[in-house]
Amino acid sequence: MTRSAECLPDGRLEDTYKRHINYLRISITDRCNLRCIYCTPRGRIQKLPHSAILRYEEITRIARIGAALGITKLRITGGEPLVRKGVDAFLEQLTEIAGINDIALTTNGIVLKKHLDHLRGIGIKRLNISLDTLDPQKYAKITGHNGFERVWSAISAALEKGFSPIKINVVALRGINDAELTDLAALTLRYPFHVRFIEKMPYFGPGLADASPPLTENDIRRIIAPIGELEDCGKSRCQGPAARYRIKGAPGEIGFISPVTHHFCKWCNRLRLTSDGWLRSCLLSNIVTDIKTPLRNNATDTELARVIVAAVEKKPLEKGQTDPEGKCGSRMYSIGG
Ligand code: 5AD
Ligand code: SF4
Repeated sequence: MTRSAECLPDGRLEDTYKRHINYLRISITDRCNLRCIYCTPRGRIQKLPHSAILRYEEITRIARIGAALGITKLRITGGEPLVRKGVDAFLEQLTEIAGINDIALTTNGIVLKKHLDHLRGIGIKRLNISLDTLDPQKYAKITGHNGFERVWSAISAALEKGFSPIKINVVALRGINDAELTDLAALTLRYPFHVRFIEKMPYFGPGLADASPPLTENDIRRIIAPIGELEDCGKSRCQGPAARYRIKGAPGEIGFISPVTHHFCKWCNRLRLTSDGWLRSCLLSNIVTDIKTPLRNNATDTELARVIVAAVEKKPLEKGQTDPEGKCGSRMYSIGG
């Protein structure tokens, strides 16, 4: 018997494979103030016209309808979400949605500092900050911007202001930051950061400035082995994509996010909304559902709820199920990771 996605009587949204979908990742812009070599293609980037980007009130409406279906957790991403005008008021509106009990922000940290007090004030405590190196010159080489000090100072300020967890996303780059991965892991000995090593995803088309072969989770584990034994935090991948560890006695955690070698589709609880109004039920496939057209054609909340359920229904069991190479044709800066 084929099952379909449904909103269960207990208010949970379940997909065709009985995965509980409660997490919506929302990209609010495809624009970014950095040009990371593993994310941005060389040359001119085709920007989406403003009219193609969902307005804040459209995004908030989708989030509200999602919450009524069983979404409880939101993550705001980009591009760089903090470069979009009016983001502070928008985030505040999200905190007012009934049923949403967890809102997190993924940022590159460049303009984060000036938003910290507002974020704390509206109850957003969870931050993911991208930082692939502790060397300012290397930072400029990776991101195309001389911004290391700004990001580090924003991270320090976030720590001081009580943000928690502060997750530091490190994309492992062969020949670029591999010699530094141990130092990055060692941050967890001094600070309560969650340092997460991410396998570089090679799926996003040709033309990236960085064409080095990716380091796998096993490579990364081998590189940071001298730091000492990693104790399992007991948080398995069913609680998120990261395998989580701690160096004995350390205040922080070390995690591995391995979309290439250890992708745990079985536990995936996510749905994504792109800045131009597509629902994506899997990062690693091209299956998308248009929610912008019905939204702009005066669809009712019930009709939009059906669109969301239809998107969940298309969620594949695993990457590559619909696309043999398990890739997706869109760039990371437009999906938000
Ligand atoms: N592979 C892995 N991670 C990536 N990110 C951006 N591009 C890639 C890629 N090709 C990460 C960034 C950021 C998050 C939003 O996505 O490091 O932390
Ligand atoms: Fe911007 Fe993030 Fe892409 Fe870097 S990885 S260019 S910070 S969107």
